[in-house]
Amino acid sequence: MCGIVGYVGTGSAKEMLLAGLSALEYRGYDSAGIALVRKGKLLVRKESGKLRALEAKVTGSDFDSRLGIGHTRWATHGAPTRENAHPHVSGDGRVAIVHNGIIENFMELKEELILEHGVAFASETDSEVIAHLVSLYYEGDLVEAVRRAAKRMRGAYAACVVAADDPGKIVAIRKDAPLIAGMCEEGGLLASDIPALLKYTRDIYLIENNEIVVITKQDVEIYDEERTRMNRARTHIDWDVAAAEKGGYEHFMLKEIYEQPKGVRETLAHRLDESGAIQLDDLGFTKEWADKLERIYIVACGTACHAGMVGKAMIEKYAKIPCETCLSSEFRYSDPIVNERTLCICISQSGETSDTLEALREAKRRGAEALSIVNVVGSSVARASDHVFYTWAGPEIAVASTKAYTTQLVSLYLIALYLGLLRGRATEAEAGALLAQLAEVPALIEDVLGREDSIRALARQHYKKEKIFYAGRGTDVATAEEASLKLKEISYINSYSIAAGELKHGTIALITRDVLFFALATQTKLYDKMLSNIEEMKARQAQVVAVAKASDARVAEVADDTFFIPDCSDEVAPIVAIVMFQLFAYHVAKFRGREIDQPRNLAKSVTVE
Ligand code: M6R
Repeated sequence: MCGIVGYVGTGSAKEMLLAGLSALEYRGYDSAGIALVRKGKLLVRKESGKLRALEAKVTGSDFDSRLGIGHTRWATHGAPTRENAHPHVSGDGRVAIVHNGIIENFMELKEELILEHGVAFASETDSEVIAHLVSLYYEGDLVEAVRRAAKRMRGAYAACVVAADDPGKIVAIRKDAPLIAGMCEEGGLLASDIPALLKYTRDIYLIENNEIVVITKQDVEIYDEERTRMNRARTHIDWDVAAAEKGGYEHFMLKEIYEQPKGVRETLAHRLDESGAIQLDDLGFTKEWADKLERIYIVACGTACHAGMVGKAMIEKYAKIPCETCLSSEFRYSDPIVNERTLCICISQSGETSDTLEALREAKRRGAEALSIVNVVGSSVARASDHVFYTWAGPEIAVASTKAYTTQLVSLYLIALYLGLLRGRATEAEAGALLAQLAEVPALIEDVLGREDSIRALARQHYKKEKIFYAGRGTDVATAEEASLKLKEISYINSYSIAAGELKHGTIALITRDVLFFALATQTKLYDKMLSNIEEMKARQAQVVAVAKASDARVAEVADDTFFIPDCSDEVAPIVAIVMFQLFAYHVAKFRGREIDQPRNLAKSVTVE
């Protein structure tokens, strides 16, 4: 995802834009640029590579301006070159734009602009059409030109537009890509993400789909697509800049791994009342509605989907409702069986993942009630849902998701229990037992964190391996999937995850002496089966590291090595065991010298299909 910022006011636009872009650096980018309006002209500078390359090009009084837009680009259409970097400018050099998203019909627009209007394109990007369209429609009213251009565009976009002939304002539009605005003492601000504005204001306006926002140095004006002025209350952001900084840790990922006890505590604290009972009344679920529920779909991508796999088990166990966990990208095209007796639970850290947002819309179109589990307040998924359950992980910056995962798990456990109690399918005793176990989870995670040294030693021993397997049974399958994803995305090791019972149906052919095999054995009723799987792997000379509970006396006799997580119930074991694997992935990636917080080819939120 690209980062966008805009500023108009009394301060130095260049400084404000660079500060905003630097606050978005964590999201990864391969080029950056700014456009300033100065003395009736547009001044555009862009560079491939890091922000410092751009900073070096915008020194001196020539760049003294009070209005401008900026961008960090994550290449999609066209290589990460200076030509393809944003801002893009109209042929007459009077209009500049920055864009996050994809213009799906850019080919047909481009053809029309070239053939009918003689426009010459300077880049290979889809975004450049926006600059030319706005310029084509500009007749002295920038808002109207942007509005007309937006009507021609299909796809997802958040775009900021400036015109040299209209030097007092920035006009921005949004559809299916995040956009926020704010005011500070020095003027008006626009950005794709909250961290870019936090230095200047914590009270932000969330721009909705198809809205147009105009910022001037005095005001933020929001209009719908017919140009009717909208009233919008500001949303207060209660986390601060420090929460989005490394705080002494070498990487955001490590900091976020260590923030998990806090995230879990806060997620629980926000949903348990003084008597310890689950408080989800604000979701508005009634017994009558819950009794009629026939099916639950959990839809999510990547890590969030792995949380959904555990969520399915908990929902079926406690609420006794058939539940299916689907990848958002598959769900939306799968003709799912959804009606008004369906609950669709969407899980998303960012709340901006395009596939999940579209899956949610599809479920709603078919009549489902939509509940989202989201970390980013006011994000698109949250806003499109009927009910929102916020995780209290705090901002997650590293691309590899860690604290979002464990807080999503806790949220799903609470939802499962709540529905179970509402439907009379879970007993108070069962609820009390699970809540007591959840209350222990922060301390259990701290126990694992306290053994980082031994996890680092394990990583040192194995970081050169090229084939690493993770297998388990029951909810350990989800942990295996998530552990494997964590490792591959930041270390680039070829890693596989599998339900252990499936090994003999094909995958066992890959098991040789150079394989490192993690065997998860935390699920009591499947324990003996797992020990047999370990024997099978040993017989093929794989090196087996078992992950089991501390009081397990048998596993160490069969595995080559064992990592013990503290004793805990089978239910909460997924929340505890994953922490060991997060640290393992982190240290393997570090030994291999990888860019841990910004792995290659990945972005923190995937706002394109
Ligand atoms: O923001 P979301 O939770 O919707 O993101 C979904 C996935 O893109 C995300 O979990 C991804 O798999 C993580 N980077 C993995 O660590």
